[in-house]
Amino acid sequence: MKKLLIVLLVYSFCKLNLIAQIPEGGKKISPDLFGLFFEDINYAADGGLYAEMVQNRSFEYAPTEQPGWNPFSFWQYVSPGYSIGHVNVSTNMPIHPNNPTCVVLDVEVVGDYEQVKGVAGVGLQNSGFDGMVVRAGEGYNFSMFGKVLSSKPIDFLIRIQDPGGKVLADASLIISDNEWKKYEANLTATADCDSASLMVLAKNKGELALDMISLFPENTFKNCSNGLRADLAQLLADMQPRFVRFPGGCLVHGDGTGNMYRWKNTIGPVEQRKGQRNIWGYHQSAGLGFYEYFQFCEDIGAKPVPVLPAAVSCQNSGGTWRIGGTGQKALPIDEMPEYIQEVIDLIEWANGPVDSEWGAKRAAAGHPEPFNLEYLGVGNEDKMTPEFIERFTIIYKAVKEKYPDIKLIGTSGPFPDGEDFEKGWDLCNHLNVDVVDEHYYKGPEWFLSNMYRYDKYERNGPKVYLGEYASWGNKVYNAIVEAAYMTGFERNGDIVKMASYAPLLAKKGFTQWNTDMIFFDNVNIVPTPNYYVQKMFMTNTGDYYFDGVIEKDESDSTLAASCVMDSKTGDVILKMVNASDEIKNMTIDLSRFSLTLSDAEITLLAEDADDENTFDYVDNVVPVKIGFQADEIFIYPAGPMSLTVIRIKNNR
Ligand code: AHR
Repeated sequence: MKKLLIVLLVYSFCKLNLIAQIPEGGKKISPDLFGLFFEDINYAADGGLYAEMVQNRSFEYAPTEQPGWNPFSFWQYVSPGYSIGHVNVSTNMPIHPNNPTCVVLDVEVVGDYEQVKGVAGVGLQNSGFDGMVVRAGEGYNFSMFGKVLSSKPIDFLIRIQDPGGKVLADASLIISDNEWKKYEANLTATADCDSASLMVLAKNKGELALDMISLFPENTFKNCSNGLRADLAQLLADMQPRFVRFPGGCLVHGDGTGNMYRWKNTIGPVEQRKGQRNIWGYHQSAGLGFYEYFQFCEDIGAKPVPVLPAAVSCQNSGGTWRIGGTGQKALPIDEMPEYIQEVIDLIEWANGPVDSEWGAKRAAAGHPEPFNLEYLGVGNEDKMTPEFIERFTIIYKAVKEKYPDIKLIGTSGPFPDGEDFEKGWDLCNHLNVDVVDEHYYKGPEWFLSNMYRYDKYERNGPKVYLGEYASWGNKVYNAIVEAAYMTGFERNGDIVKMASYAPLLAKKGFTQWNTDMIFFDNVNIVPTPNYYVQKMFMTNTGDYYFDGVIEKDESDSTLAASCVMDSKTGDVILKMVNASDEIKNMTIDLSRFSLTLSDAEITLLAEDADDENTFDYVDNVVPVKIGFQADEIFIYPAGPMSLTVIRIKNNR
């Protein structure tokens, strides 16, 4: 027995050693290199990833969000069966001060049931975000806050129907309480419909108040309540991102100080959260709040990277994107102690024990275990004014004093160079900030001519997080130049810690930004070639980089390549990019790795007849996988406009 134990120990020691054996020349690179940037832009959250089907569920839409919007926007008053009544907005009896508006339904006369096949009453109808999508046999969870204002209970009908009024699902409730109470019902659809609506109908004479009228598919991602749209979330999970940055973007610092993203308004029961105008010109309900972001990260094995405002608003506040309005505004300095506490509290909320004040709130929400927050961003491409510098500095010092292990991410403006970029880096160098967030959107040629940008960076200063980047466009050429540029992240993975393409999601007909990674509507999803490039990198990461494995014409600026090894599996991964219109050869020399070469796989993304994906042709451009037997030294003919990933598996 003892002998067997020793043999086993020796065997596992050898195996561990074998896996950890890195050939000479391997450079340790960031294990967190590729992740996602999520911002509620282009209806990415409400009407997008957040699975709520009712639009304006809490009657908080306002003309300050969009001209013409009001608490009844996206609702329709209905009184079938020749019923008589009326509906009013009330701010006198909020469920919670953060959710001030509700509606009052007054049913005076309920019409003749017989004439209208049993449906008569007074109520409201909502067709969601451009129609609700239901599928036969699938379940939908309805909930609503109600409060009877008259003497008797009120019978209530919940109905999902098609545009012609055909019933797709029905449920009944009795609203009986004189205090606010949550009422719930489960409905099962009997037919498919892409343009359904929800009707809620009071069927007796009387008066009642309603708020938070909500409908979710039962099938959300991982079946979470208050969850995410399963198909979109799965597409993101399939990328295997190492981290998710949230909630933005300019959404973080907001349009004026009153519009900054305050994380505490986005946790706790959804009816107690504070929605607000989205800087991108619509309403953010905060239903997808910090708890849901952290939970999603955990569900997909990604590190959470929250970004908080640096107590200043967007420099374009009051204007449009990058065209200055009233300009950056700062929180008054005497409000800073409270604001700093808000930042510190986030760390306790994420990581603190259940008996700490904020850890207890996380536990109460259903997550007693810590979320293991490691990175925290402060500021988003802010203008480097004295006000910003002062506030960032005190936030940075306070966080580091209390939580020295948290890696703080500073910011360096919206461009790859210029005044804010220089000043942002100077400040971060001066404070010795862990990581600096860079942002830039450029034409494809810029990416090709700047492929070696990070080779020239100082190796001993703060690390780089390229938090937002994209070449302007979603054609194969854009994706391929991004791939070429990304090989530079791997080559410089000693100082480039993280990178995330932006923006992530864009809803058809509701976009504020036109180069995006994934387009969608209520039914369809269109991953762009840029999505596939990101996915090919994310699913093929390594933690060691090797120079000199792939030989190519160094004077050809359309070619790029990188070689990494995943020390956990021992797999060697080659990435080869050809952004030209001709086949170009690269020579691969694997002799330094002790690999069984029989088991390799090529994933190839290349331009064919078509150069983009559309709603009509979703799969024009998709990567293909091909089995491959590599030689120790071989020539690879990289096809025109292509990214090739060759994964050579370590079978030993
Ligand atoms: O990604 C879109 C926007 O671009 C972000 O909100 C902002 O940070 C950047 O300017």
